[in-house]
This record gives sequence, C-alpha cells and structure tokens, in this order.
Amino acid sequence: MLKNKKNYLDKDISVKSKFKILQNYIKNNKIFRFLLLILNPIDLINKIKNYKIDKFKVVKINWKLRTEKYGKYGVISTDTPQSEFNYVTNLQKKIMFSNLRRFVTKKEKKILDYGCGSGRFSEELTKINHKAKVIAVDTEKKLISLAQPKNRVTYVWLKNLSQIKMKFDIIFIANVLGGIEKKSLPKLISFLISKLNKNGIIFLSEHISNKKIQGPEILKGWAFRDDDFYLRLFKKVLLKKVDEYKYNDYRTSIYVGKK
Ligand SMILES: C[S@@+](CC[C@H](N)C(=O)[O-])C[C@H]1O[C@@H](n2cnc3c(N)ncnc32)[C@H](O)[C@@H]1O
Repeated sequence: MLKNKKNYLDKDISVKSKFKILQNYIKNNKIFRFLLLILNPIDLINKIKNYKIDKFKVVKINWKLRTEKYGKYGVISTDTPQSEFNYVTNLQKKIMFSNLRRFVTKKEKKILDYGCGSGRFSEELTKINHKAKVIAVDTEKKLISLAQPKNRVTYVWLKNLSQIKMKFDIIFIANVLGGIEKKSLPKLISFLISKLNKNGIIFLSEHISNKKIQGPEILKGWAFRDDDFYLRLFKKVLLKKVDEYKYNDYRTSIYVGKK
C-alpha cells in the first residue's frame, strides 16, 4: 500500500501568481524580517523583552478572527492568492478523493466531515454513494455560516463533541489536527474512533515535517508533526500512509485507516 517517496513528490500544488510568489518570498525571508524589525524599534524591544515568555507560549489559531479577516479563504494558507482558492481546492480534491475511492466499498452511507470549515469537501463526500448523507461539523460558527447549502449535507456548528451522537461509515478529517494542541488529541481521536462503525474508514490529511519533535511540543499556530506521530495516534484503526503531496512547499500526508 505504501508508495515510495519518489512517487509522492510528483504531486505539487504551488502558487501561480508571480506577484504573490515575490510577496511570499519577502514576507518569509529572514533578512527582510530582520530589517523590518530594525525599522520598528518598539517591536524589536518588545520582542527581546518577551523572548522567553513567547518561546513557551502556546499560540492557537483564532478561527473566529481569521475568518473575520479572510472569510472562507482562511481555511487554506494565506500565502495563496484568493483568486487561486478554487484551483488549490480542486487539486486537493483530486488528490484526496482519488485516494479515498481506492478504499471505499461504495456502500458507505453515513459520513462525517470533521472540521469541515466552509465545507470545501463536504459535497464531494456525498458522491461516494448516491444515498450518502454527510454531517459536516466545525467548531467555528462563522465558517459554518459561510458553507453553501448542498443536497445531503447537514452543517453543524460543533459546541461540544457530545452533539455527535450517531456512528459513521467514513470519518473524513482534512487539515484539522495540525491546529489542535497535542495534549487534546488522544481524547479527541478516541472519541472519533468510537463513532466509527465496524469496517468504517478514517481518512486523514495533514501537513507534516520530517523533524521529530524533541521534548514537549509548543504549538505555534500550526503544528507540522511527523508521519509517525499520526500513525501512532490512530494505531487502533491501523492507519497507513497512502500518499503525499506538496502544497506551497509544505508536505501533506494522506492516511487511511479501517476499524
Ligand atoms: C485549515 S481548516 C480546514 C477546514 C476544512 N477541512 C478544509 O480543508 O477546507 C481547519 C478547521 O478546523 C476547525 N477546527 C479547529 N479545531 C477544531 C476542533 N477541535 N474540532 C473541530 N474542528 C476544529 C477550524 O475551525 C477550521 O475550520
């Protein structure tokens, strides 16, 4: 089932706009960032003063603020121009669903899109079976309100996990766990696995890095964990890596597990 690394690297989604490429280069370049700091001495002093505190501070993504700022576009990297949102979404759809289709029996009818955002992939999930019903949940109310109504998709603003009462044939999690603190994950994953029917499928897609986390992980916005981290987290469903692609130079792994 595992492909070799060479095949994985064939798939690449990158920014097309030359202007945005240059803007991203400047924004992410260490020398430019240093120059900017020097030009803002107050920022520089605050950075030096707070260095130790900031180093250990957990920085969670504020999805409400992010959505107020970027609308539906905030669910992907803001290094991508908004005009390329559909292009990125379509390529991700193609890569993810070609993998998911290799594992479904087409009898799956109850599907959970966990952390659906504005529902980029919710409708595509209904196509797995013409009777399939998708429950698409997200903890950010504003993103749920941006989701377009679709046949056989029910969007739910998730205030508490206990709202998820039924069991599913497929649980689909795309680019969600990297934004959640490591310490909260075991409980969440056990809960999700408990909501999976026998022979049910877990589909997971996450940005990854080769670097192993040394010591306790301190979340800074988005966590780039390694493959082993996710494989261990879902070992109860024998999670396997089935593909990998690059998005704006970030490696993204695709995993599938079965109960
Ligand atoms: C990067 S977005 C991905 C959204 C969607 N899966 C997509 O690919 O378009 C991450 C999403 O996870 C949601 N989220 C964050 N923490 C969550 C949690 N504990 N449970 C469910 N969703 C969560 C956020 O509100 C956000 O919509």
